[in-house]
Amino acid sequence: MGPAAGLPSGAARSLERVSRPASIHVCSACGHSSPKWFGQCPGCGAWNTLVEERAPLAAAGRGRAVGGAAPVAPVPLAEVRAPAVERLETGIGELDRVLGGGLVPGSLVLLGGSPGIGKSTLTAMALGRLTAAGRRTLYVTGEESAAQVALRARRLGADALRVPVVAETDLDVVVATLERERPDVCVIDSVQTLHAAQLGGAAGSVGQVREVADRVARAAKGHDIAVVLVGHVTKEGALAGPRVLEHLVDCVLQFEGERERTHRALRALKNRFGSTNDVGVFDMRADGLVEVPDASARFVAAATRAPGSAVLAAMEGSRPLLVEVQALVSPSELVPPRRVCSGIDRNRLAVVLAVLARHGGVGLGTSDVFVNVVGGIRVDEPGADLAVALAVASAARGVPVATPACFGELGLTGELRPVAHAERRAAEAARFGLDPVLAPAGSGPPAREAPSLRAALRAALRGPDAATEAAAVAA
Ligand SMILES: Nc1ncnc2c1ncn2[C@@H]1O[C@H](COP(=O)(O)OP(=O)(O)OP(=O)(O)O)[C@@H](O)[C@H]1O
Ligand SMILES: [Mg+2]
Repeated sequence: MGPAAGLPSGAARSLERVSRPASIHVCSACGHSSPKWFGQCPGCGAWNTLVEERAPLAAAGRGRAVGGAAPVAPVPLAEVRAPAVERLETGIGELDRVLGGGLVPGSLVLLGGSPGIGKSTLTAMALGRLTAAGRRTLYVTGEESAAQVALRARRLGADALRVPVVAETDLDVVVATLERERPDVCVIDSVQTLHAAQLGGAAGSVGQVREVADRVARAAKGHDIAVVLVGHVTKEGALAGPRVLEHLVDCVLQFEGERERTHRALRALKNRFGSTNDVGVFDMRADGLVEVPDASARFVAAATRAPGSAVLAAMEGSRPLLVEVQALVSPSELVPPRRVCSGIDRNRLAVVLAVLARHGGVGLGTSDVFVNVVGGIRVDEPGADLAVALAVASAARGVPVATPACFGELGLTGELRPVAHAERRAAEAARFGLDPVLAPAGSGPPAREAPSLRAALRAALRGPDAATEAAAVAA
């Protein structure tokens, strides 16, 4: 028997209305919904999948029965009016490039990054420049007080000080402010600190973050406001308030770097209005982030050239970038031995080590291997294989890499495979006097071509061991 049993029907209905929960908990795996939260989904048995959501409003009794909606007529795409998208240039060249030419009015950008990396600095600078260019801006801070934001702005200069700021964590207030102020660009720092009163969960929980993004997106689209949502990244590297947001927003930017170093890289993980290939490079200084249009020069100058170091002619999106790959090989007591890398994919390292062992005569079964791309840079491209292989082989043998720079993908049969933009990579290396660059066959002059890993090792590692190796290969 329900709680309303025995009451006159009108009273029962009003009691029902009162007791209907404002939110429900929905399993993200099977869709089971329940008014209560469970650690384990009663529907499918999965753990920690229940997410709080706003309870759907009952359609019946609100004027239109479920299923009674009027159909709409589909329109051929050619007849859809699509005015050319106007871009709001932030005035920070590296940021605009990664965005695909600037912010798009009415779009939502999610800017993620680990704590202290410089997300607030970047957004405050961008708003400062936009304000100086005559755009209406708004900085919503839920994380810091207005005074803290002002202190940072002082560091960044006069432009940043002109940005209007609101210190608020209540979603309703923020949305109301957005609708009244109707700025061209708004930054919400951070999306995890805003709280929707209708939902019970703590700020930053999946349900809350989704609700925040959803309501802000509606306000943004309704008033053509470009919104930048700042988000935190968890230790595992996922944008916290998890990946649910990535589908909701138009563009996901990731701000990366090592906190101890000044170097920062901004890359697009998703962009509905541009490519995801471009990378912006910055330097964190006392007076804010400074763009680094010529990053190669920095990394090349810092390259150690000691055994275990190789210079890679990489592509960072659409531009060439010279970076140093370092490796350390040391005897291990562990089974299996350690494989630690930063800046390259772990699985890719495993492939390179296997090919090195099988086709390069460099067995590392009893050694720990550490690989690092210097400067906090990440190279997610097959062209990095050869540099990783050379750095590891050089570290294992204690012989410096003799070739000034290199690039190329390793095939599983030990061949060196061509990669995109060979001429541009070689030209970038030549610009810094690092030629000839060691490259796969077919890369063309001025590169020095090597058809296989073995040939590359022979060319790059000159030393007593290399000589023996070359002799062995010849035999
Ligand atoms: N006076 C200074 N000189 C040089 N760098 C500074 C100075 N003050 C702050 N920084 C840099 O700015 C960083 C903090 O930047 P910011 O507050 O924009 O980061 P954030 O990503 O927004 O961090 P959070 O996750 O805490 O919000 C510091 O980690 C430091 O590197
Ligand atoms: Mg911040």
